[in-house]
Amino acid sequence: EKVVLAYSGGLDTSCILKWLIEKGFEVICYMGNIGQDEDFQAAREKALQIGAVKVVIDDIQESFVKEYVWPAINYGLLYENRYLLGTSLARPCISVGLVNCVKENKASYISHGATGKGNDQVRFELTCYTLMPEIKIIAPWRIEEFTKRFEGRQDLLKYAALNGIPVSVTPKAPWSMDANLMHISYESGILENPNNEPPEDLFIMTKSLFNSCNQSVRFEISFEKGIPIALKLANDQIVKHPVGILTTLNKIGGDHGVGRIDIVENRFLGLKSRGVYETPGGTILYQAHTDLEVFCLDKEIYRVKQLLRDRLSDYIYNGFWFSPEGQYVRNCLDLAGEKVQGTVKVQVYKGSVTILGRVSNTTTYNEDLVSMDRHSTFSPQDASGFINIQAIRLKEYHRLQKQNL
Ligand code: ARG
Ligand code: SIN
Repeated sequence: EKVVLAYSGGLDTSCILKWLIEKGFEVICYMGNIGQDEDFQAAREKALQIGAVKVVIDDIQESFVKEYVWPAINYGLLYENRYLLGTSLARPCISVGLVNCVKENKASYISHGATGKGNDQVRFELTCYTLMPEIKIIAPWRIEEFTKRFEGRQDLLKYAALNGIPVSVTPKAPWSMDANLMHISYESGILENPNNEPPEDLFIMTKSLFNSCNQSVRFEISFEKGIPIALKLANDQIVKHPVGILTTLNKIGGDHGVGRIDIVENRFLGLKSRGVYETPGGTILYQAHTDLEVFCLDKEIYRVKQLLRDRLSDYIYNGFWFSPEGQYVRNCLDLAGEKVQGTVKVQVYKGSVTILGRVSNTTTYNEDLVSMDRHSTFSPQDASGFINIQAIRLKEYHRLQKQNL
């Protein structure tokens, strides 16, 4: 029978590949290219050498940016107030690729190397079940026979040596990472003690503030229906391709030390876990979009949107991108996004993102109405009544407090 394995090229999934073959499966390795720094050709050869019947390398970068990252920016998604969801957003995108690969190759199983304690297993599997309810999943890190045989890295290395699985000569970093066009996340190993500072050589996308550029940089980002459509650089060069906008902002943000966070977060399973993240371009876009959105949106719509974005952030973190509630909330948020149009002027320097100005033709901002220099249609006397009425409740509160003294 045929299995599609979500293959990374690393030690874990290479051993899983061999183990599945030993179990009698025909294994097709699927690698989704979402912008991780990976030698895909080398990984292909490695998988074929181990015994994969086929290796599918799927370039899904554009769909990742257009269908997942851009909506996340438009919706203002933020998990527990800090995490921009770089890994959580990639999982449904990769799962779509996995399921397509299953259908094209008439396979009946999907296998992956996510652990039994994490979020990723839930995200991969829930997405695959919604897209293809009859799919069967093989999660070796939850199968006793596998976990008894492979307690840890040493067992994997021994198995690799025994089975001619090539192992990278560069020593493994003492943490695990997950990279894509939006971010790199680091967890486990020496980071498991939440009081251990991440070493400077961990960071790949961003410079530290001490080594970052000593000159500020300015640029403009234009949004249409809440989605970034153009990036105008200081030299007047204009970037329009979605992947180009994100990677250019990653470079700018990275050079200026933007977008590092070190947090403890709540996983879906109920455990707390410590994670370090670099999201340079995403952080710039989040800030620019937030500025334009408050500028453009109706006050009360903005407030409802904040509630919905917190709900949707949880749904996506927990693996429910494709779900009735996810679809419903996305529809609502898309509606709000339609009013977010315009251009934001941004300056980046030493880790900070500063908004210098904004223009829009979908805002109710009324310079004439708000001006301190003219009354326009506004009658200041009305404000007296407004304040008097607001004060009723406060005066009553005061009266009660005095009574109780
Ligand atoms: N904690 C983050 C999340 O759940 C990052 C997970 C990283 N995954 C990984 N396989 N290294 O979204
Ligand atoms: C894993 O456990 O496979 C990675 C971390 C996570 O999924 O939360």
